[in-house]
Amino acid sequence: MLSDVRSRLPAILANGLTAIGLFAMILDTSPATTDAWHLIFLGAVVAVWSAILAELVIRLHRHATWQQRFTYLATSEGAIDLASVLALPFGWLVVSDPRDASLFALVWSLRFIRHTTGLTLFVRVMMRCRVSLLSIASLFGAIFFGASTLAYIFERHAQPETFGSVGRAMWWAVVTLTTTGYGDLIPLTIWGRLLAGWVMIGGIVMFALQAGIIATAFAEELRRQHFLRTWDLVVTMPLFQKLGAATVADIVRRLEVRDVAAGAVIVREGEPGDTMYFVVSGEATVELEHAPVILKSGSFFGEMTLLFGTPRSATVVATQPSVLLVLDIADLRELAARRPELVDLIEREATRRRDANAMTRSPASADVI
Ligand code: CMP
Repeated sequence: MLSDVRSRLPAILANGLTAIGLFAMILDTSPATTDAWHLIFLGAVVAVWSAILAELVIRLHRHATWQQRFTYLATSEGAIDLASVLALPFGWLVVSDPRDASLFALVWSLRFIRHTTGLTLFVRVMMRCRVSLLSIASLFGAIFFGASTLAYIFERHAQPETFGSVGRAMWWAVVTLTTTGYGDLIPLTIWGRLLAGWVMIGGIVMFALQAGIIATAFAEELRRQHFLRTWDLVVTMPLFQKLGAATVADIVRRLEVRDVAAGAVIVREGEPGDTMYFVVSGEATVELEHAPVILKSGSFFGEMTLLFGTPRSATVVATQPSVLLVLDIADLRELAARRPELVDLIEREATRRRDANAMTRSPASADVI
């Protein structure tokens, strides 16, 4: 926990500073701000800008060559850093009032997304669904122009002020299509009202379609990322290493990655269970009465309950922070049908463990697998 906070400290500090700068910029726009306070807020904005500049200089200095520096500036993180540094001097150059110049610091708000994976994820999602979104956008455009033209035809005599040209009717079309209703523009003719009803329904359908497309693309992208992470972990496991890509892909789809903290009880003796675990990294200890068994990366546990239908034969605890792959009973059965040799291997080890437990053994030392 503490190391987690320590590793995030630079990001927390950078975000804190950015927030202070933005807050000072906002307060500076208040008419109640006196000249003395204006100087303080301006000082805060300039101080934060200096820190942002220093951060960029240090980041660039860490790269050995100019080519690496330019490559960094071409990344989304580098571009946000550069824009944050340039925003304020640009404001000072083009605007004479320093209060207005400080408004350019709004670019700094992009710095909050620099440290999250959200931006990359969002860009990937948008790229993934760009074709569908473009189709919706063109449909939206067609309805928008159609609605503006029809509203002009139906309403131009009744309300020449608002619907006197297609251009004027466009404002009505956009607020109706987005179902905002902003401006309270109401058609007076029966045809105009009918049109308004259809445009509103069309707007709702299109926004629902867009939301659905984006939500599906988000889910697919997250599934893809999960698949890639699981794949990377699965191929490190000796048990799966000799399998072909198609079988690995089949297994990867069935496995869940679970990160467990040191000291976490993963399975408890006597309880029922429907999952087995593969240790990718870290360490788990099987707490057996005669001597604990330490399971290192590459080994598995929890298979006995699945294969023999018995309650958990022992408690298994993570003795280090560990990454596990979890396979449930239904997927194990399907795997047994498709890759019997793999499950035979697991079954042989389970039988060996059961026999070993059945025998009364008394070595004091811990077995390490
Ligand atoms: P299960 O009985 O489902 O839950 C406890 C798990 O501990 C068990 O499956 C095995 O995977 C593991 N286990 C039990 N006995 C031994 C043993 N002697 N050596 C290694 N692992 C064991």
